[in-house]
This record gives sequence, C-alpha cells and structure tokens, in this order.
Amino acid sequence: MWTAVHVVGAVAVVGLGAYVGFAPGFAVLVAVYLIAFTLMLGVTSANFSKPLSGSTLVVSAAATVMVIGLAIQAVPYGRSHAQGPVTGEPQWANAETRELMVRACFGCHSNQVEYPSYASVAPISWMVQSHIDEGREAVNYSEFATNPGDAEESFEVVKEGSMPPAYYTRFGLHPEARLTPEEMKTLLNGLQNTPGLTEYGD
Ligand code: HEC
Repeated sequence: MWTAVHVVGAVAVVGLGAYVGFAPGFAVLVAVYLIAFTLMLGVTSANFSKPLSGSTLVVSAAATVMVIGLAIQAVPYGRSHAQGPVTGEPQWANAETRELMVRACFGCHSNQVEYPSYASVAPISWMVQSHIDEGREAVNYSEFATNPGDAEESFEVVKEGSMPPAYYTRFGLHPEARLTPEEMKTLLNGLQNTPGLTEYGD
C-alpha cells in the first residue's frame, strides 16, 4: 500500500519537476525524500507497530520536509553565484538589441546573471544554477568573442519561440523576459543585424 502511494507520489512530483524545468536533480531529491519519509513513518509509528493514523502521516511528512529541507542547505552547489569576467560580447546591432537580450536571455547565457533572492535556497538554487550552467555551455554572450558556442542559432531559437524556455516565464516569473510582439520584432531585427547571431550571415 505504502509502496503504491510512494510510486504515485514520486511520478507526480517528478512530472511537476519536469514541468517547472527541474528534471534529474529533482528525481534524486524525491527519492531521498521518500526514503526518509518511510524511515520517519517507522519512527513515529514505533516501527510500524502502531496503526498509521492521519496524524502520524502528517507529523512524519512535516518532520521529513523540515529535516531534508535543512540538510540540503549544506550542499554548496548553486550557492556561490560566482561569475566569470565579460571577455567580449557580440557587436550588437544597436543598444536596444542588447537591452532586450539582457532582459530575455542574460539570466542564463551570460556572466552578468542577476540572481533572484530565492536562488539562494536549495533546492531552488540547484535548479537555477543548473539552467545557468547548461545555458552558458550552449552559448555565453559574455564570452562571445572567444567562445561563440551555438550563438549563430540565436535568431532561429527566438523566432521559433523555443527561447527563453517556457518554464522561465511560467507562474508570473521573470516578467521582464516576456517580450511584447513589438519588442519581439525589434529583437529579431536586431539579431539579424548582429554579426554571428544567425546562420545566414549578417
Ligand atoms: C532559463 C534559462 C534560459 C534562458 C532565460 C534562455 N535560455 Fe537559451 N538555453 C538554455 C539552456 C538550458 C540551453 C541548452 C539546452 C537547450 O537547448 O534547451 C539553451 C540553449 C540555447 C541556444 C542553443 C540552441 C541550439 O539549438 O544549439 C541558443 C542559441 C539560446 N539558448 C539562445 C537564447 C536566447 C537568444 C535567449 C533569449 C531570448 C535565451 N536563450 C534564453 C537556457 C536559457
């Protein structure tokens, strides 16, 4: 019975994790949580000798969330918010192009990330940092001069609407990255006129 509850719970939570953009790390966290929850249930119901009442469940779940929630703050990943230097941005077509790119893209593809305050609390900090790590690996506009990466896909990903990723602006997050149709037109035009940001030359 409890195994079934755990499996359904795990699938639901991992699905939610993928929806908000937090895939593999989230699955590990859920696994750790479920194991801890089972252990905690054993403790609070005196090694499962007492029947599992509603209050046993609530107390166990709350205690597990607290213990795991505190313990994971000790993981250093995602806390330092260290950023490399800016070694050379693209020759932006104009100031407005850069401004729109800063608003919609620099949160993951630059060495000038403005970390939101909630990005210091695990597990959110892990999620934010993993998006930034993966984003910088694909293209880092602060290191464009020496390491253009996939920058020539920039025009294309904005045009097809795959960047910024949907989870970035979901739930009212990052309103600055939500561009109006007018701004989108300006950005696409700017990207086309910035060398190195389209596959079709400049
Ligand atoms: C929430 C973080 C985030 C934001 C914001 C974001 N990206 Fe990305 N981007 C990623 C990640 C992660 C990848 C690598 C995985 C992938 O392709 O989905 C990526 C990949 C890319 C790639 C490489 C795609 C390819 O096919 O090679 C380009 C180009 C890119 N992003 C451009 C942009 C532009 C332009 C913006 C702003 C309009 C933007 N991104 C906003 C996270 C982000």
